[in-house]
Amino acid sequence: MTAQDVLRLEVRDGIAVVTVNRPDKLNALNGDVFVALAEAVARIESDPAIRGAIVTGAGGKAFVAGADIAEMAEQTPPSAEARARRGQRVFRRLERCGKPVVAAVNGFALGGGCELAMACHLRVASRTARFGQPEVKLGIAPGYGGTVRLPRLVGRGRALDILLTARMVDAEEALRIGLCDRVVEPEAVLAEAEALLRGILAMGPLAVRQVIEAVDAGFATGIDDALDGEAVRFGLLAGSEDMREGMAAFLAKRTPEFRGR
Ligand code: COA
Repeated sequence: MTAQDVLRLEVRDGIAVVTVNRPDKLNALNGDVFVALAEAVARIESDPAIRGAIVTGAGGKAFVAGADIAEMAEQTPPSAEARARRGQRVFRRLERCGKPVVAAVNGFALGGGCELAMACHLRVASRTARFGQPEVKLGIAPGYGGTVRLPRLVGRGRALDILLTARMVDAEEALRIGLCDRVVEPEAVLAEAEALLRGILAMGPLAVRQVIEAVDAGFATGIDDALDGEAVRFGLLAGSEDMREGMAAFLAKRTPEFRGR
């Protein structure tokens, strides 16, 4: 399989659907997937025809069952650190691509799969999905952001429970603790992810981008700097056509037509 075969990117009416495509290995993330994912993220960032993205896994069983254990089995300290940095870079770039990204979690989201789902802005899960960070069972710790994003999503205590026990978290629990945002029947996952994303794409795109960036920046700093940043963004958006359109549409009782400027 080439790097293209292991990841599909399809653009449908403004939405890029990115599918990790190694169903026989439960979509485990190997080097080829990362090469293709990095290319896909670069395209999502730069292609004006793409306004948002959905990330999912091929086959009915897994979103992504983790980093490829067969590849990792031979790793050395320098190659493992480089592997972690490469994965972190690609996921962080996805998280900061400037467009909303929804994970359609259609099955196992373990290790690197859970980390990929957490790097997306929102997660729609199948009722049969299972989340988890089972790395400690393999004698390793998460390397693609699991120890960083999981506590931010679910809180420190719950994150440590999941990280230290390596247990699987079912979809209902994931919903309850904030690890996913919607739970639907397996056959409805992609449609629900698309509906959620289309709803967001109907909002002012500059505003959506500012919200994502403000929340991200807010975690990197203290409350006063975060509030300061929020005020700056609020001011910036007041110079946009989109703000005038959004408010004019409300006052005229019509649907806004945002242009992203
Ligand atoms: N890396 C490499 N290969 C993987 C994989 C991974 N993370 N997860 C699954 N696979 C492969 C299996 O080796 C198997 O390949 P084979 O058919 O060539 O033997 C195939 O995918 C199907 O998996 P299998 O284990 O037979 O399915 P299952 O239904 O019995 O179990 C899981 C499903 C998800 C519970 C199990 O595959 C698993 O525990 N995977 C590893 C999860 C993990 O530890 N991820 C974190 C890695 S850091």
